[in-house]
Amino acid sequence: MPKIIMSQHDSIRAVEWKDNHLVLLDQRKLPHNEQYVQLYGAEDTAEAIRNMVVRGAPAIGIAAAYAMVMAARKSYKQYPGDWRVRLDAEKDLLMNSRPTAVNLMWALQRMSSALDSIESDPESPLLELAQRIHQEDIEANYLMGELGSALIPRSHGVLTHCNTGSLATGGYGTALGVIRSAYSNGKIEHVYADETRPWWQGSRLTAWELVKDKIPAHLLCEGAAASLMRQGKVSWVIVGSDRIAANGDVANKIGTYSLAVNARYHGVKFMVVAPTSTIDMKTLTGNDIPIEERAPEEILNVGNQRIAALQAQAWNPAFDVTPASLVDAIVTEKGVVERPTAEKMAALMAL
Ligand code: MRU
Repeated sequence: MPKIIMSQHDSIRAVEWKDNHLVLLDQRKLPHNEQYVQLYGAEDTAEAIRNMVVRGAPAIGIAAAYAMVMAARKSYKQYPGDWRVRLDAEKDLLMNSRPTAVNLMWALQRMSSALDSIESDPESPLLELAQRIHQEDIEANYLMGELGSALIPRSHGVLTHCNTGSLATGGYGTALGVIRSAYSNGKIEHVYADETRPWWQGSRLTAWELVKDKIPAHLLCEGAAASLMRQGKVSWVIVGSDRIAANGDVANKIGTYSLAVNARYHGVKFMVVAPTSTIDMKTLTGNDIPIEERAPEEILNVGNQRIAALQAQAWNPAFDVTPASLVDAIVTEKGVVERPTAEKMAALMAL
């Protein structure tokens, strides 16, 4: 892959292809340990996706694309006669590793469509494609950074949720990419980041990225967001997405919907930043988006420490859906859709 010139306030990369395998920065260990895991196949990559070693919709898609390279290499070696068919099981394993982020299905689809035109050893053409997917994601993030930054008229505070930065993408980030660009352009004076229960993507990951890249920020509990807005400290909420339906409804980390409701009530604008690989025109509305439910222990415990009363139960949806009517702008690498509707989304995707 060509060397990418990393801009100011942009120093982190979490997904990397090294020699013959995939290297991931283990996001479960951050911020206190910067440890890397080495993956050599589809099975261990699917497990890394399920267990949140790698997370964030575009990053999951990129990791899966690299996993297909390793799966194809193994399949071609073991079954040179029918390696394509033998790959199906590993593709399905990856496909089912997390259900909401459509970038995963999008990347796997793109990788498998390439198989038909490959005559012999698939490793190098597939690697070239996976690297292209990775590179295109970073380029899309830089473009979205500028487009999103242009929507912010004056230097003020912004609020973000979950982690949408270099860790969640090929690099730079979606919502956090806009924040990086807007901060570099003097359009943001302060960032507020929700801690983001139950995985603490805000406190563990977003705060780590912002501290590393020298962007001033404060963490807050999700429950403090309405008060922050009421005090006039932010003029935009800026978030990413795991899947955007054809009508502009947006699935993102649980808690995003309450931010959108609160933002509308307080006259704060709501921006969603996502590459077009996150837009799923086959899913008509947000009601049709599969929402992952994760283990109750993620709520009942913090790390390995039980917090909740022993007999307590928990409901743990990982995502929610924000209706398009609460979204002021969807920023993609192809352009900005203001006040999204099905017609405007179709027009964007036809570009
Ligand atoms: O459960 P996670 O950490 O994978 O959830 C991530 C998010 O909800 C992000 O906001 C989304 O994937 C967009 S990341 C660019």
